[in-house]
Amino acid sequence: MCGIFAYLNYNVSRERRYILEVLFNGLRRLEYRGYDSSGIALDADRAASPSDAPYAGAPPLVYRQEGKIENLVRSVYSEVDEKDVNLDAAFNVHAGIAHTRWATHGVPAPRNSHPQSSGAGDEFLVVHNGIITNYEVLKETLTRHGFTFESDTDTEVIPKLAKFVFDKSHDEEGDVTFSQVVMEVMRQLEGAYALIFKSPHYPNELIACKRGSTLILGVNELSGQQNGKAFHDVKALTTNGKPKELFFSSDLCAIVEHTKNYLALEDNEIVHIKDGSVSILKFDPHKEKPASVQRALSVLEMEVEQIKKGNYDHFMQKEIHEQPHSLTTTMRGRLKDGEVLLGGLKEHLKTIRRCRRVVFIGCGTSYNAALAARPFVEELTGIPVTMEVASDLLDRQGPIYREDTAVFVSQSGETADTLLALDYALENGALCVGITNTVGSTLSRKTHCGVHINAGCEIGVASTKAYTSQIVAMAMMALAIGSDQISTHARRNAIISGLTSLPSFVSEVLKLDAEMKELASSLIDSESLLVFGRGYNYATALEGALKVKEVALMHSEGMLAGEMKHGPLALVDENLPIIVIATRDACFSKQQSVIQQLLSRRGRLIVMCSKGDASAVCSNGSCRFIEVPGVADCLQPVINIIPLQLLAYHLTVLRGFDVDQPRNLAKSVTTQ
Ligand code: F6R
Repeated sequence: MCGIFAYLNYNVSRERRYILEVLFNGLRRLEYRGYDSSGIALDADRAASPSDAPYAGAPPLVYRQEGKIENLVRSVYSEVDEKDVNLDAAFNVHAGIAHTRWATHGVPAPRNSHPQSSGAGDEFLVVHNGIITNYEVLKETLTRHGFTFESDTDTEVIPKLAKFVFDKSHDEEGDVTFSQVVMEVMRQLEGAYALIFKSPHYPNELIACKRGSTLILGVNELSGQQNGKAFHDVKALTTNGKPKELFFSSDLCAIVEHTKNYLALEDNEIVHIKDGSVSILKFDPHKEKPASVQRALSVLEMEVEQIKKGNYDHFMQKEIHEQPHSLTTTMRGRLKDGEVLLGGLKEHLKTIRRCRRVVFIGCGTSYNAALAARPFVEELTGIPVTMEVASDLLDRQGPIYREDTAVFVSQSGETADTLLALDYALENGALCVGITNTVGSTLSRKTHCGVHINAGCEIGVASTKAYTSQIVAMAMMALAIGSDQISTHARRNAIISGLTSLPSFVSEVLKLDAEMKELASSLIDSESLLVFGRGYNYATALEGALKVKEVALMHSEGMLAGEMKHGPLALVDENLPIIVIATRDACFSKQQSVIQQLLSRRGRLIVMCSKGDASAVCSNGSCRFIEVPGVADCLQPVINIIPLQLLAYHLTVLRGFDVDQPRNLAKSVTTQ
């Protein structure tokens, strides 16, 4: 949803121009999380501090702008020019904060953008990712105390509450620390949040805290210490007065170009940066005083190249073409001598084998990946599998039992519906397994066990490489669970060997790129596109249609081919393009007859078939074909989705829409 970022340089001189660029770049990396509006706050020149100011520092410089980050960049540079803000001014210590927004409360507009403010003088500024559920009550109370609200956001109550707490404590007790203020604010807040606070009352300090939403601290020591070499104790690293740069970010991909030393904050932790040192406190609503905690920094295993487009025009394009590599990393070290080794599941395999059913839970593309996995999980484990869209499970409060294994599939590991469904399954006593791409995500922390898909950072809003890696991760999971079954031995071996050769088949199917571009150009003016699949490839039909609708903004439906006669056939005419997936598997002959029925209604067909099968599926010359290499039937969805991803990509470019940031969408949907 939203992305938050902060940069604090300590004991190292940085010009305002440099600080601005670090903040803008942080936002560029997080833009995929929301691009409705953005904003930043920086320090004013120290000399500008009015001597009769009621607080220590001058009011910060705050800029907010509607639309994409580049709008903010342009408007900041033109404003600093107009107002003669000195970009060469150097700061030995400076704390800047930034935000990119996916609108939830209030339309995209500067007044609804973050940083949100306590009011005149910007005594407290806050950037927020998440939702405050009790904001209306807080707003009422603060209004009674004389506060006026300018935005429609839930966030605005936070800086105002901070000012209220600060003024009150100041009047009653004199000095109050920044962390005491934030602690009291946290006591009042309900909902999910990652927050960063900046205040001229506490110049050169930053405070961040979280409950629910992800927040990362990055530490870059500038005194010759080698990044990425060892685990450091946060305190030892940061209390030594050495020059350093500190970052907060919603996501690791915004800090990787600065440092590899990071810490993923846990719920209710507060990080206070003051005088270049970092203290971490654990907030407990039932205790007056927070406990101080020691945490170790982890070393980020990500390369800067992962977050750059390289030679590609778009991240979605790069991520589609990366799939031979991402699938290789998903399987790396996990397939050995005909065995599947999944360290994250090992301890729980016996329990899973004894469970009453497997329940797959996810949203969007992740749900589709689970649907693609369902047939082989049933086949290889003999355990019944049911499917749940996370929001629907919650709406129905569907039954989940202690004897269930609930498998949560989520690329980001932060999707609100999926996480709420996880809480629900945990409450009901199910064994909870996570399949995610995000190490350290809420999903990976809250589930009992799981598999990281290791597909690498996915930045394009439309999920592509994560989808194929999720399927492969679940194939390995099914093989591991079913490894005690003698009757499936030969089948298991065939799938394992199919997995090993999958990346080279993916490379082969990617050669259809030019053909898919050509197909896209024949479809650009179509209003709608249907995709029919069944069996292993029902999920492919849903996922292909989802890709087309979300990025190419063309109406598209994935349908179960077996349902065609029960309604959808009425739509068929010579204009509506229909993709029928008819690659070789047990459903092949049924798909042949679907094709015949569509052709006899003059359907405009594009048939996806196995290489060399074109004349077997349609001999009268009226179909277009997408011929794909054949692999083990249950792995065929990994191959078949790729031409559809390419089609969606080219359709989007040809129709002139934004590939990586489709209208109204955000990469991780952290609100319900
Ligand atoms: C579509 C897409 C979404 C996500 C869905 C769940 O391309 O990416 O449908 O799959 O929002 O997100 P995760 O997998 O992060 O839980």
